[in-house]
Amino acid sequence: MSNLVDRLMAAMTLEEKLGQLNMIDAGQPPYEREELHRQIRAGRVGSLLNTYGMEDVDAQQRMAVEESRLRIPLLFGYDVLHGHRTIFPLPIAEACAFDPDLWERTARASVEEAGRDGLTLTFAPMLDVCRDPRWGRIAEGPGEDAHVAARYAESKVRGFQGSDLAARETMAATAKHFVAYGAPAGGRDYGSADISERQLAETYMPPFEAAVRAGVAAIMPSFNDLAGVPMTANGALLNGWARNRWGFKGVMVSDYTAIVELIAHGIAADIAEAAAQALNAGVDISMQDQAFVLGIPDALRRGLVEMETIDRAVRRVLELKARLGLFDDPRRRLAAPPLTQKEKSGLSALAREAARRSAVLLKNERNVLPLARDTKRIAVIGPLGDDPLQMFGCWFAAAGFESATIVQGLRAALPGTEVRHVAGTHIYEPGESGIAEAVEAARGAELVILALGETKEMTGEAQGRGHLDLPGSQRALAEAVLALGRPTVAVICAGRPLTLPWLFERADAALATWFLGSEAGHGIADILTGSHNPGGKLCVTWPYDVAQIPIFHSQRPTGRPANPDVYFCNRHVDLPIPPQFPFGHGLSYTRYAVRGLSATPDEFGPDQTLQVEAEIANEGERAGEETVFLFLRDPVAEVGRPVMELKAFAKVALQPGERGKVRFALAPSDLDYLGRDLKPRRDAGGFEILVGPSADRTRLASVKVRMRADG
Ligand code: GLC
Repeated sequence: MSNLVDRLMAAMTLEEKLGQLNMIDAGQPPYEREELHRQIRAGRVGSLLNTYGMEDVDAQQRMAVEESRLRIPLLFGYDVLHGHRTIFPLPIAEACAFDPDLWERTARASVEEAGRDGLTLTFAPMLDVCRDPRWGRIAEGPGEDAHVAARYAESKVRGFQGSDLAARETMAATAKHFVAYGAPAGGRDYGSADISERQLAETYMPPFEAAVRAGVAAIMPSFNDLAGVPMTANGALLNGWARNRWGFKGVMVSDYTAIVELIAHGIAADIAEAAAQALNAGVDISMQDQAFVLGIPDALRRGLVEMETIDRAVRRVLELKARLGLFDDPRRRLAAPPLTQKEKSGLSALAREAARRSAVLLKNERNVLPLARDTKRIAVIGPLGDDPLQMFGCWFAAAGFESATIVQGLRAALPGTEVRHVAGTHIYEPGESGIAEAVEAARGAELVILALGETKEMTGEAQGRGHLDLPGSQRALAEAVLALGRPTVAVICAGRPLTLPWLFERADAALATWFLGSEAGHGIADILTGSHNPGGKLCVTWPYDVAQIPIFHSQRPTGRPANPDVYFCNRHVDLPIPPQFPFGHGLSYTRYAVRGLSATPDEFGPDQTLQVEAEIANEGERAGEETVFLFLRDPVAEVGRPVMELKAFAKVALQPGERGKVRFALAPSDLDYLGRDLKPRRDAGGFEILVGPSADRTRLASVKVRMRADG
């Protein structure tokens, strides 16, 4: 590979080198179609985004490999975040399955479709830990916990990239958005992340380090500044941490026009300065703003950048293209035989499995769920009950077909049941004129399902919300229906937790379905009918009120811990202290109990591994799969350690009455933390191991262990 790259490097003009650092959105200005094709033939474009499909990709690739001077193939990038033609649950949903194998399988399945559309680079996984559901992009990531995000990162990189990027069923993955994009001031997208170095190192960096260790091919710096330094020009973290400390050898691709935005950030006076700062910091490809093509020639003349820096970036891009096998056969992925009907059915089955395992049963009283199989009349009330486009959430543009709606799912599962749908109101056209019809339909039903939440447009990028209630007139609709006192299930479709204490108080049952993708309706029906026993658990803490934010399970202790019986303590006096639902919350149609927690040896040396074991009993009448969490509490350290830190999670499938074991091995490094100097420390002393179904401390079994100070 290297002699091919060496030969090209020696042959390329400056303009051709900068062309390799230039990624253009094929569907947007600055170029209209013919001009774009001229640029490709002139070698001034090295990669495209937002174009896919045999016709366009084949034609554009041929222009590069058959009509340009050096015949360098193009990269084709796209946001294959949670599926391509078949859409899987949003990442925030899928994370609630707490199943790294599932996370890997859906990534690999995405490649089967994306590769056949000619895509070779996905701008995924998104690894931004987030504890602020006001931020719309919480939907795109794996939740609030760094450990979960790191496991998610590893699974997605394996799923997208496989073991050899040259193989057809692979595409280069991009760990994004590096870093701390999920901590914008006020939950407003693109906002400054003014966080401590400790928080950066303990919470936001680990998922990206895990992605690099897993071999991720690309990294995308985030739009935000970090304590005043925009990530796109943050050489201390791009080159310093990712490349030099972690050994990242891949490509850094800027976010969309993020380089030229360094001017608005106030650290560059013109595009030459912006381009030089980004290139010097470690960015290799500019996305859409042509910053390197337009700014680097001037920057070279002004001595703002060295030729060797340019060459290093170009080499990395060419090496990625070579690793993808594009020089050997640029059409390898396009030329894959079309998916067979059996393969397509397999993708739909996986989408349905992912959907039912990503939903979280938040409440279930009066035995409302699972619904009785002989239920004759069900009323589905609400604007999200039967809308075939609303179940995708964000980043779904390539979806090949509409999603299964809740009504469709129920009708398919219960052919003998009348399932009547009344929207009652429309989210974008608030109004209560439809409520009477909804009430009439609910009155005549044995079971009412309220299908409420956000629209898909209200989630994702640039969708920060200051209020997390139900938009439009949905609350008026729900309250009118709830007043009937019929058995009622609230199905909440959203890309984030919504603060709905009044709904959780009055509905008999509540299911968080996020946006579950192509098979949403069938996955939801599998749960509502009981053909699937729900096992999803919250990957984010669910706040009672926006004012509680940030609220998450691994908060630091204070000298005056929150306590409803203490006046001088850490709390809002006008809000409950606990969240609506804690991290890890999720009900089932059976009951599990944690028994017999043990940690051996209970006294151990600093280099010994701790074996933790617990027995989980299924005390109910239905088979199910329980997710069990292991948290660590380090009560005395050089810095105040979180009140609980997730260190592991495991799943156990149990038949009714069955007991099973979960086993964890805690390596000594799992007990390390960053000392006051931000360097890893391993302190002798006592630790508490907490094991159980969620971050609700009252439901955790606990055992104390001690690390000796062996010399
Ligand atoms: C967007 C997003 C980024 C995405 C890119 C290309 O602005 O920030 O996540 O990958 O542009 O679509």
